[in-house]
Amino acid sequence: MKPPNHPMDRSGGRACGPAAVVAAVVTAVTAVAVGLAMPAQAASTLKASAEAKGRYFGTALTRGDLGISAEVNLAAAQFDMVTPGNEMKWDATESSRGSFNFGSGDQIVSFAQSHGMRVRGHTLVWHNQLPSWVSSLPLNQVQSAMENHITNEATHYKGKVYSWDVVNEPYNEDGTLRQDVFYKAMGADYIANALRAAHAADPNAKLYINDYNIEGTNAKSNALYSLAQSLVSRGVPLHGIGFESHFIVGQVPSSLQANMQRFANLGLDVAITELDDRIPMPADSSELQQQGTDYGKVVSACMAVSRCVGVSQWGVDDGHTWIPGTFPGYGAPMMWDSGYQPKPAYTAALNALDSGPGTSPSPTPPVSPSPSVSPSPTPPVSPSPWVSPSPTPPVTGSCSATLTTVNSWPGGFQSEVTVRAGGSAVDGWTVKWTWPGGQTFSSLWNGTQSVSGSSVTVRNAAYNGSIAAGASTTFGFTANGTAATPTLTCTSP
Ligand code: XIL
Repeated sequence: MKPPNHPMDRSGGRACGPAAVVAAVVTAVTAVAVGLAMPAQAASTLKASAEAKGRYFGTALTRGDLGISAEVNLAAAQFDMVTPGNEMKWDATESSRGSFNFGSGDQIVSFAQSHGMRVRGHTLVWHNQLPSWVSSLPLNQVQSAMENHITNEATHYKGKVYSWDVVNEPYNEDGTLRQDVFYKAMGADYIANALRAAHAADPNAKLYINDYNIEGTNAKSNALYSLAQSLVSRGVPLHGIGFESHFIVGQVPSSLQANMQRFANLGLDVAITELDDRIPMPADSSELQQQGTDYGKVVSACMAVSRCVGVSQWGVDDGHTWIPGTFPGYGAPMMWDSGYQPKPAYTAALNALDSGPGTSPSPTPPVSPSPSVSPSPTPPVSPSPWVSPSPTPPVTGSCSATLTTVNSWPGGFQSEVTVRAGGSAVDGWTVKWTWPGGQTFSSLWNGTQSVSGSSVTVRNAAYNGSIAAGASTTFGFTANGTAATPTLTCTSP
């Protein structure tokens, strides 16, 4: 299933560096291998520092990696999120039509679960690692094949993944959409179709579009921004943008933070999903220092954007990375070297986490009773970027509702409403308010609306009526008129 020359599977070929003969280093490597995984100089771990700021720090692992104990011990000690490197891709999961195999992906999920790590599902629709039966289908069969694939895979992993990279790498460098089989069959609508199918299969997964060379402001990220804006305004279930971040040393774009922020301002989560920073080989010490600067910049940019939910490195150590196999002449892109020793990049990433602003990306006003936002592997309540949260709402039944304005533009705005259960679970909820200035809905999602004059009633959708005690769900809408924060009442039967 994997492409030949798969760089992450070279476990047998890894050579010990000269440093391995130094007794102290041998001891350190051994300590990692037996699970005392914290590097000597580190006061914390990436995951502990990230969790303290309401974020995660993730890695990519392949099934091959799971057999390398030093690597997995280090991964389990440092990371709290796992992306399967290849195991959930179409060629791995549906290599022949209608015949699904989730065995390898399940192994990654089990590993993650047994180490308190969450999983970013990767990826449902991508032009690469796509079996030839898909690309050679008659075009009028592609949509049903795509939706069937998404439905089967997202249903299999329902409740087990935090997020899905639903559509991966849809853009060319010039900002046009790739003319892959999905585009040829459905035009640009394939992206909305894919997101809707994934949402129907797993309504709680955060749904992403993920791409590379969109980290800075450029033609490609501008095109994605327009698409994201349009999807959000049409109520298509898009929840986040993944910035892969496969960088070359010294070339982290200066517009990274501002670019992520503009996507966040649409009401989307953003994440660094596949970070690596490759160096022309052999790497010298100034390049390793520069790499540290780069990692620090990337992590700091995420910390500065309240909706940046986390950073994932695409691998663990320099001995197991896709870079040399894909970019000949380059290597050493990870925070640990091939002897599992932390590099300047590790220290820089940790420092950037520790000095990042705030304690949590979830500034939503607490509603009684409020689950504490504590560092834990529990998926976070959707972080809030929110521009203008309404005042703490009255608890009128056994639920409460808070409206926040996500975005506004001349003549319109987008809001999200968090519906939170009180001290006991609710089964069905109704939120009501009165528009102060003639506002009207243009679209509404995750709820059902009825409007009479300025009186608005929104009831739960079929799939989000049940809320556990103290937990919450959200619905959202776009509306015409001036953004408003009316008083909301919430009741449950
Ligand atoms: C890479 C894997 O790491 C390799 O093992 C595989 O041979 C090719 O794919 N963008 C993505 C990832 O979204 O899925 C890619 O992963 C790296 C680039």
